[in-house]
Amino acid sequence: MQTYNVAIVGATGAVGAKILDKLLERSFPYRSIRLLASSRSSGTVIQAGGRLFTIEEAKPESFKDIDIAFFSAGGSISEKLAPEAVKRGAVVIDNTSAFRMDADVPLVVPEVNADALENHKGLIANPNCSTIQMAAALHPVNKAYGLDRILVSTYQAVSGAGSDAILELKSQSGQFDSRARNSASQLPSAGAKRHYPIAFNAIPQIDVFDEKGYTKEEWKMINETKKIFGDNSISVSATCVRLPVVTGHSESVYIEIQEEGVTAEELRRTIAGGQGITVQDDPEKQHYPMPLFAENEDNVFVGRIRKDPDHPRGFHLWIVADNLLKGAALNSVQIAEKLIGRPPRLS
Ligand code: A2P
Repeated sequence: MQTYNVAIVGATGAVGAKILDKLLERSFPYRSIRLLASSRSSGTVIQAGGRLFTIEEAKPESFKDIDIAFFSAGGSISEKLAPEAVKRGAVVIDNTSAFRMDADVPLVVPEVNADALENHKGLIANPNCSTIQMAAALHPVNKAYGLDRILVSTYQAVSGAGSDAILELKSQSGQFDSRARNSASQLPSAGAKRHYPIAFNAIPQIDVFDEKGYTKEEWKMINETKKIFGDNSISVSATCVRLPVVTGHSESVYIEIQEEGVTAEELRRTIAGGQGITVQDDPEKQHYPMPLFAENEDNVFVGRIRKDPDHPRGFHLWIVADNLLKGAALNSVQIAEKLIGRPPRLS
């Protein structure tokens, strides 16, 4: 069997660590795994799958002989080092937003558009976490009935903002008083001009605003959804909110489908037939998806499926997934699995 030399850039981060776990857990056919991070972590030894790995500093030369390189160390590192990896023959699976909307970069949720991998030129983008779980859940709906419109509000976990944001939520959670306000430094984002406490709060800003009043995270959901479905005619709008949840993004999604006369029960069955989807939808038994129970799970969970009271083609859904797994690490590893059997290197 063909085996691969793999590198993970950002291996000490929240997503990078999960990429390593998933490669080991899913028996990805690797020949070697090189873990890369900043110079601060160089020489650190970590344990995973009963093995010890030493972290190295990520440099252009780190990608010599690498076949597949996962990037999850922030957009600026991807911009600098991903082209270096591609130049050395590696296929890059990038978790940042650096290249997602580039016309020649496939943006892939394997259950939805694995065929987009056909003509990749070395760079493959993993979509935004909130977008992946929504696209995976809505794909069977789009296939069966056609989607006209998607309106989504997200309830996003702090782990999507990185390890420091998790630490900040944990430290603020035990001490909600004026000091928490003073100690906020990570959210809405580390680089923002003003910071707000996340414990006991909801912050309706993820990333920076543009002149239209939308945040970058909201534009990611709008533009990436259209690119993944390959259909610019679907109307999409989003409001993205950060909540004091460690892991697991939740989404309240309103859709309008093209087909008339579809019942909630039919829609439920259609969604349940989707790959990697678990429907949890029994109001009687208070059975619905929640982030606490989606943590460490591979699937996307869908519940609260119901017809809009007024719009004949409108439905409401509640979609939850582990943002570090299906929203990031797992989706990236699933992309790599789709490359198995193809020529490992570019040249
Ligand atoms: P390090 O731990 O050495 O700082 P998170 O998103 O969870 O905060 O993780 C960010 C990841 O990106 C970490 O693995 C971090 O490594 C890595 N990283 C940050 N700066 C660089 C850099 N200049 N070069 C390579 N990796 C970096």
